[in-house]
Amino acid sequence: MASKLNIQKKKIVHLGNVGEDSAYRSKQLAKRFSNFDFYGVDLKKITDSSLLHPNIRISETLRNLRDRRLLKPKPKNLEQIQKDFVQGLNRFKDGSLDLVSSDFGVGFYKKERNIGKLKSAIKKEMDIGVSAYIGADTYTRKVINLIYKKLKPNGKVIIYFFNTPRYRENLIFAFENSGFEYRIEPVDISKIQINDSDKVSRYNSFYLLERKNYPEPIYRIIGVKK
Ligand SMILES: C[S@@+](CC[C@H](N)C(=O)[O-])C[C@H]1O[C@@H](n2cnc3c(N)ncnc32)[C@H](O)[C@@H]1O
Repeated sequence: MASKLNIQKKKIVHLGNVGEDSAYRSKQLAKRFSNFDFYGVDLKKITDSSLLHPNIRISETLRNLRDRRLLKPKPKNLEQIQKDFVQGLNRFKDGSLDLVSSDFGVGFYKKERNIGKLKSAIKKEMDIGVSAYIGADTYTRKVINLIYKKLKPNGKVIIYFFNTPRYRENLIFAFENSGFEYRIEPVDISKIQINDSDKVSRYNSFYLLERKNYPEPIYRIIGVKK
């Protein structure tokens, strides 16, 4: 009699994935890789269409793209967890994740209890102007160490960030003090088009596109659990 194979699906966690376009990138990746289980962790509800950062530079093209993205349905293999990064990661067993990623989330933000508190912190930032939140350094260290614990051996973490003071330092400091082997590489966004075609630029997060308006380069940090 043939025995039933117990094949575990790969588990991918996307931290801070909702943003301004209802987690478009996670939805597209889940749709494309239907044999993997995707999980998003974000304080913002996936159906919340309000702007989290009202001061972003949003062109007419980007606004239209966002309007279309807000309507995309959530695939069944994407589970959205409305929690803080730490609480969200703690939903998973140690050594159970294959990949954790974050675009323009981890490294920049601090611990927040709920979306209301996060919105107040953002409002305050618009008044005083900061490049990464005060308290994001210790919080990032905690999150990176927790990611390490939750990943399988050889599991990977990929974090996209803007090369602004404090943001980069927060990440480097956290990775230096973790068990990860890591490298940092620049991301060439010159050829990325503001497009929601299924073939061109199909996984681009909103903030990757929005940052085309700014001079600071974009980098990613890739860590492997050894
Ligand atoms: C700048 S947006 C990036 C969204 C998306 N990844 C993109 O690139 O378009 C940052 C996201 O992180 C979430 N976030 C910020 N601090 C958080 C925290 N402490 N815990 C969970 N989510 C958080 C925000 O709600 C927001 O959706």
